[in-house]
Amino acid sequence: MLSPSSLPTIGIDFGTSNSAVACRVDGVARLLPIEGAATTLPTAIFFNSEDRTTHFGREAVAQYLSGTEGRLMRSLKSLLGSALMQEKTAIYDGLVSFEDIIARFLRELAVRAGRELGQSPERVVIGRPVHFVDDDPKRDERAEDSLRHAARAAGFRDIAFQLEPIAAAFDYEQRITKESIVLIVDIGGGTSDFTVVRVGPDRATRDDRSDDVLATSGVHIGGTDFDQRLNLERVMPQFGFRHTGAQGREVPSKVFFELSSWHLINWLYAAKAVRQAKELRTSYSDTRLHDRLMAVLEERHGHRIASAVEAAKIDASVTDAETTIDLSCAEAGLVATLSPADMAQQLATPLENVIACAHACVKRAGLRSNDLDAIYLTGGSSALRPFQHALRKSFAGVNLVEGDLFGGVATGLACAT
Ligand SMILES: Nc1ncnc2c1ncn2[C@@H]1O[C@H](COP(=O)(O)OP(=O)(O)OP(=O)(O)O)[C@@H](O)[C@H]1O
Ligand SMILES: [Mg+2]
Repeated sequence: MLSPSSLPTIGIDFGTSNSAVACRVDGVARLLPIEGAATTLPTAIFFNSEDRTTHFGREAVAQYLSGTEGRLMRSLKSLLGSALMQEKTAIYDGLVSFEDIIARFLRELAVRAGRELGQSPERVVIGRPVHFVDDDPKRDERAEDSLRHAARAAGFRDIAFQLEPIAAAFDYEQRITKESIVLIVDIGGGTSDFTVVRVGPDRATRDDRSDDVLATSGVHIGGTDFDQRLNLERVMPQFGFRHTGAQGREVPSKVFFELSSWHLINWLYAAKAVRQAKELRTSYSDTRLHDRLMAVLEERHGHRIASAVEAAKIDASVTDAETTIDLSCAEAGLVATLSPADMAQQLATPLENVIACAHACVKRAGLRSNDLDAIYLTGGSSALRPFQHALRKSFAGVNLVEGDLFGGVATGLACAT
């Protein structure tokens, strides 16, 4: 435990899918255990309506999956900068703003970090993507403001921000022995962020590093978008997406887009949305598909299906073999399949956009790809096989270094304090 006087600032990586907290102790940044021994906490909250308790992380997801009545919220970060941020949502009997829900999550991180450190941390450096919102500086600023308000409501007094890929660069710098120019690639759940930096053991101790950050770029594409696309293409057709009704018209597609987007699923469970989905029945020629859709909405299986798609994505990537997606919650025995070739095809366009953003970063730094000494990979989605394949092809000859996929940003944020 630390004495209060030596209590340092903490670094929080508030991620779309996972969050992490780190702190510098005796000059060394280390991740703090925040869910049992784990140093990540999935960015998920479950409001249990049976006993009105609130749960976080793996425990939140487990409660939802076990069938407990309540409300699961994931991908909270995706709401930052969106119009939905101003809206209130029903939690138990009351209405709560999304900013307040994010504040509750940050407060929980502070409480867990405080338990580890022996005192509540009051100063924090929070990571932020290069763009919360693409091509809209006003909304982007609003997103950072919302996060700052949420952090203040969570009890932090001194709040600073650092770009996530710069934090990842500081983490990488701890492990290298010679000066190099590196492209830092952070592909997370919500965003893909890039930095070209000059790193080196002698540079790490300098106070002002702004000259070493040669360029940054970022795009709002990440693992949750990959999940959405795979869900839409491989699962939603079984519920009526692109299904043609008796009048020769397709079933209106909005419900399928929302049901496959992590942060929009909850909206579909509202009475009005369920009613609208019921009315879609006349647009179907095969009403069995509509029965499946209604079973998912009425029994609130949207997150379960999104989780199954995410698991299939990771499985197809890791094993390089075809995998199945269990849809028995919609209809007994129903499954979808996902093959590595399917996945590569479905994700080709978003991955091209991600790779273009990486090249834009290198160009902005006034460099060419063969000027890079290495490409450093961090963020869970950087492990995606079709992504690594596309990156290798596009940056032929540059060494790829795989880093700490889930802890690098938080560790780097703590280095920056
Ligand atoms: N082995 C894997 N292959 C492909 N994707 C993976 C793998 N492991 C995890 N992922 C994906 O990585 C994503 C989470 O990564 P990470 O925790 O780095 O994101 P995040 O920091 O929460 O998001 P962001 O930084 O964009 O806000 C999820 O979309 C998850 O499905
Ligand atoms: Mg991240």
